[in-house]
Order: sequence, then C-alpha cells, then structure tokens
Amino acid sequence: MADWNPSSWTTKPIKQDVVYEDIKGVKDALEKLQKLPPLVTTQEINNLKTSLKNVALGKAFVLQGGDCAELFDYCNQEMIEAKVKLLLQMSLVLIWGIDDSAKTLSSKILILAQEQTNPSFVLLELLANLLKMVNGVEMPSFRGDNINGFDANVASRQPDPSRLVSAYFHSAATLNYLRASLSSGLADLHSPLDWGLGHVITPSIKEQYSKTVSAVKDALRFMRTVGIDKDRGVETADIFTSHEGLSLEYEQTLTRLLRNPTDRKHTGTTTHQPTSNFYATSAHFLWIGDRTRQLDGAHVEFFRGIANPIGIKIGPSMAADDLVQLLDVVNPTREIGKVTLISRYGADKISKFLPGHIAAVQASGHVPVWQCDPMHGNTQSTPSGVKTRHFTDILAELRQALEIHRASGSFLGGMHLELTGEAVTECVGGAAGLTEDGLSERYTTFCDPRLNEKQALELAFLVAGFYREEEED
Ligand code: PEP
Ligand code: CO
Repeated sequence: MADWNPSSWTTKPIKQDVVYEDIKGVKDALEKLQKLPPLVTTQEINNLKTSLKNVALGKAFVLQGGDCAELFDYCNQEMIEAKVKLLLQMSLVLIWGIDDSAKTLSSKILILAQEQTNPSFVLLELLANLLKMVNGVEMPSFRGDNINGFDANVASRQPDPSRLVSAYFHSAATLNYLRASLSSGLADLHSPLDWGLGHVITPSIKEQYSKTVSAVKDALRFMRTVGIDKDRGVETADIFTSHEGLSLEYEQTLTRLLRNPTDRKHTGTTTHQPTSNFYATSAHFLWIGDRTRQLDGAHVEFFRGIANPIGIKIGPSMAADDLVQLLDVVNPTREIGKVTLISRYGADKISKFLPGHIAAVQASGHVPVWQCDPMHGNTQSTPSGVKTRHFTDILAELRQALEIHRASGSFLGGMHLELTGEAVTECVGGAAGLTEDGLSERYTTFCDPRLNEKQALELAFLVAGFYREEEED
C-alpha cells in the first residue's frame, strides 16, 4: 500500500479530535510511546484473525465486552478478575446455547475483552458541544482518563498528553495480569464457578436458568469423563483485547511494521521475500466508532492500512451503499472475517435498517463477522436526567438481530456489550427487577451505563435460549 503510512491519517479531516495546547508535551509523549514495545504480538493478532474467519463462516461466536470508558482506577486485581470470570461464564452459556455438543464447547469460545484506551465522547449530551457548563463556568468535558481529568475544574479538564503514556502503562499492567492469571488457571473450567442465581425473583425464570447451569455443568463433566478436557483449549479460553481506535496519535505510535513469523522461513539458499505488514499493537482488535467512520476521514484512512482484524460500528445513519464502499476501502482483498460489522440501531430501528445492510453486504461478496451491539442505540435519560438503558430494549434488539439474520440467510456471530463484573445499578430491568428509582444506589459509570454482572449473565442465558429455539424450530 504505497500511499499509506501510520501517519497518513493526519492529512485527512478528523472528527472527535483532541486539541492539545502543550505541543512539546505531545511530541515527548509520542516519542516515548514510539520506543516502547508492542503490547500484543503479530502472531496473536493473526490467531484472532483466523478465529474471526471462523465466526464469519458461522463456526464460532464472539463475545465482546467491557466498560465504555475504562478508568485508570479500574486497573486492579478484583475488577480484572471479576470481568474475566463474567465473560468466561457468559461465553460458556452462549456456546451451550449455540452448539451444545460437548466436544466443541471450549473450542468455540472467543472472548474479546475491552481494555484501556477508550477515551469516551459518548456522553450523548456532550456530543454536539464539547464544552459543558459546570456551576456556571464553561469547561471542556471529561473525555476519558487517557485525555483529561474528571475533576470539574478547568486545569484538570485540559487535555494532558502525558496521559497517553499512562494509558500505555495501565494497558500493559492489565494485560500482564490477564496473561498471568490465564496461564495460572483463572479461566480453568475445572474450577467451580459461582453461578449465584439468588437475585432472580421470578421462580419460573430461576428454574429456567438453573436448568441451563446444570446443562453447562453436565457438558463440562462429560468432557472431563471422556478425557477431552486435557488440551489447552479447556483450561483457558481464547481471550483477546480490543478498544475503539479513537485516539489516532496513540494508535499511530504503537503501529509497527512487523514481519509475519511465517515469512521468516528459509528455503535452501533462497529467502522468501517477507510480506511486510503494519500491525496496530495496542490491542488485538480495534474498531471505528459510529461517529468517526466517514469514508474520507482520518479514522478510515488509519484503519485501512493496518493488518489487524477491525470492527466498524454501523447505526441508522449508515447508507447501504456507503457501507459497501467502506468495506471496499478497508478490505479491498475481501479477506473473510477481517471486518466485524457491529450494528447498533436501537430496538425500535433495527428492523428498518439491518435487512438492507445485510442484503447490500451479501450482494457485494464481502463476508464480515456480524455482531450486534444492543447498547448504544438504546440509551435514554430518566425524567430526572440519569442516562440509562432498559434490559428489555437490549434484549429486544438482540432478539431481532438474530431473527433478521436468520431470515436473511446470514449468521449473527457475536454480541458487543458494555458490562462490568461489579454490582452496579446503571441499566434498568433484569431478573433482580432494578427500577429507575434504584439507579442511584451504585451508579458509578463515567460514561455509558453498563450491565451489571447479574444482568450480563442473564442476557447470556436468554440469548442462548434464542439460539436453541432457532435450532428446535
Ligand atoms: C462506544 O462504543 O462507546 C461508542 C461511542 O459507540 P458508537 O460508536 O456505537 O456510538
Ligand atoms: Co459506550
């Protein structure tokens, strides 16, 4: 790609840009980042690519989840463990729903954990206006720990370039603990998992969930009995990392020209010409937000040159023709599963937009992974102004996504959720019956409302049920 390099995006118009006053600080931060090692390797990225190809072909499922904006403070043992365990449990339930043949139970688990560096611009009320009035003083809004501070004073809200370096180190610490925990058996399916269904208030739902838990446990027991749980696949799930590639300065510094290990082969005296590739190494998977996916914009320019599998959020404002053009730009060779289309229309809009988007993509010959994000099109405010999402809307969008894909001969290969392993009260509904009045109890998000651990697991139970109904029909 002769006309592309990691900084060619700087020649294009950019949305959601951060304007730094401290120019020297930016230069220093970027120089520092440029020297630091990649956070993930080419080989891992290529492994994820292979797995996503399987998802695109309907052979596996991808569960993507994490906080909307991860704060530096979330980089601690309890929160990392809680999130990984939750994702693991959800994936077990989902896989059981999608394909309960015990043999494949573990090989199909693919988890994309979201981690550091999702500087958030998603406080909806702030989108039109990046300046906000706080106590009568106009000040820049909080744009995520990677950019500025949350404290409501002008100094703390100034974009601080040294935060980009902090983002790297927090990301590294999270990844280090994740890798160490996985290799020490955190995701070992032999260890008992706490399914705690005590919060479920409706007896019939409780019974239904208990049955699912028993079925999952039976499948695990079966694997143990027949001895197919010895391979690495059962001890650890495949967990990769992801975030929205919003801060292009940051992504650019961590984009490295790396040789694919398979290119290093020597045959006799002739050496294969290495196919050079630029890999974004801040995470395995990056995605473009719904607000930054302009065909001629900086984000698309950056994304079209990286070798990683990538995601593109698509909402109601995406025209079907533009979608195909975008796929042609970021994936001209039509690699299967290279692009994950993450649809996020809202429960009341999905039926209007998704069928047309699927049809256009099918006609184009591209084979992406289709993922449903049932969160971002369903954000609303309570009468008292608290941003929330209703469990019923989240579920309704997922259910429709599944039905529409099925009716179109397409495969819904994943879901993309904002969740936390903590007992927060940010989304309304679920089996514990959380109401709008209860939201203030533990409303701790600095960005979008997340499903708490019980709501997230419950969603997995219900979605697994949808897949099974489909099979039984
Ligand atoms: C987000 O993922 O927090 C986000 C901003 O989503 P979207 O791009 O879909 O609006
Ligand atoms: Co969000």
